[in-house]
Amino acid sequence: MNTASTPSTVITDSSTVVLGIETSCDETAAAVVMGGNDVLSSIVASQLEIHARFGGVVPEIASRAHLEAITPVISQAMQKSGLSFDRIDAVAATVGPGLIGALLVGVSAAKSLALVLDVPFVGVNHLEAHLYAAMLDDPNVEFPLLVLLVSGGNTLLVEVREHGVYQIVGQTRDDAAGEAFDKVARFLDLGYPGGPAIDALAKTGDGQAIDFPRAMLSDGLDVSFSGLKTAVINHVRKFPESKTSDIAASFQSAVVDVLVAKTLRAAENLGARTVAIGGGVAANSQLRSEISEACARKDFHVVLPSLAMCTDNAAMIASAGWHRLRLTGATDLDAGAYPNLGLTVAQR
Ligand code: KG4
Repeated sequence: MNTASTPSTVITDSSTVVLGIETSCDETAAAVVMGGNDVLSSIVASQLEIHARFGGVVPEIASRAHLEAITPVISQAMQKSGLSFDRIDAVAATVGPGLIGALLVGVSAAKSLALVLDVPFVGVNHLEAHLYAAMLDDPNVEFPLLVLLVSGGNTLLVEVREHGVYQIVGQTRDDAAGEAFDKVARFLDLGYPGGPAIDALAKTGDGQAIDFPRAMLSDGLDVSFSGLKTAVINHVRKFPESKTSDIAASFQSAVVDVLVAKTLRAAENLGARTVAIGGGVAANSQLRSEISEACARKDFHVVLPSLAMCTDNAAMIASAGWHRLRLTGATDLDAGAYPNLGLTVAQR
C-alpha cells in the first residue's frame, strides 16, 4: 500500500513556479517556468549522438542515459533559473506517451522531488504539452485554436476550444510525418534523424522534379504517408540516376502540401482564430513558410514556436503542468507511466 502523499492543490497564479521534467524519448530535459509561461530556465540534454549509429532510438540505452543525465540536468535548470528549491510550488513530469523505461526515470525523479519538497506532483500528457509549447511563445493566443501536431510518433490535428478542452479532428492512418521523414532519409542514406537532413538537402533540390502522390488531399482531415514512402522507394529503384536533392525536395513538398491543406481545412471547419504547429516536424523550414503564407491568405493568426519549443523540452511540460494543476489539481503518487497514452481528454 502506498502511504506517501503530497499536497493535492496549490494556488496557481502568475507567481506559481513549476519544475518540469521530460524523459519520454531521447531528450533528458528540465525547466523552471513561472505562471505557466515565463520560462526561467530550460535545459535539454540530447542523446542524439548516442543513438545515431543505430539509426534510431534504442530504448534500453535511452533509459540508462536518462539515469545518468537526470540529476545534473535538474541541477542546471535550478541554477539557471536563479531560484532555490524552496521556491518550487509543484513538480511536473511527462507520464506518457513514450518509452516506458525512459518515462519512469523522469516520473520517479519528479515524485521523489515532490515528496521531499512537500509540493504537488503533476503528471503531464506529452501530447498536451506540445499544444502548450505552441502557446508558450505566444501566451495570448485567441481561441478557438487549431494545432497541427507533427512529431516522430504522432500526426494530429487538434481543435483547442479553450484550455483543457480539445478534440482530435484528424490524424495519420499509418506513418507519422516524422516517421516518414526518418524512413525516407534512411532509405536515401541521409542518416538519423531524417527530418533535419531532408530539410537541409531539399534546399538544394527541385521540389517539383518528381510528382509524388499527395494521398487523400481532398478527402477529409486524416492523412496517410505510407504510400508516399513506397513511391519514393519505387522511384529510386526505377530511376537510380535521379538526384537525391530532387527526391528529398519533392518528397518534402508532397508532405508539406498535404499537411498545409488539411490544417487549413480543419481551421476553416472550426472557425479558428489561430493556427499553431508543434512537434519536431514543426521545425521544417518549408512547412513553416508555407503554413504562414496559407494562414496569411485566409486571415488566420499563425503561431510558429521557436525551434527549441518544437522538439522535446521540459518548458512545455512545466507549462502544461501549471495549466493541469489549475484545471484538475495534482496527480496521485500512485499514478504510473503510460507508454500508449493518447490525447483523449475532450473536455474538463
Ligand atoms: O517531437 P520530436 O522531437 O520527438 C518525438 O517524436 O516525440 O520529433 C522528432 C521528429 C523526428 O522524426 C525528426 O526527423 C523530425 O521530428 N524533425 C523534422 C525536422 N526536425 C526534426 N522533420 C522535418 N523537418 C525538420 N527540420
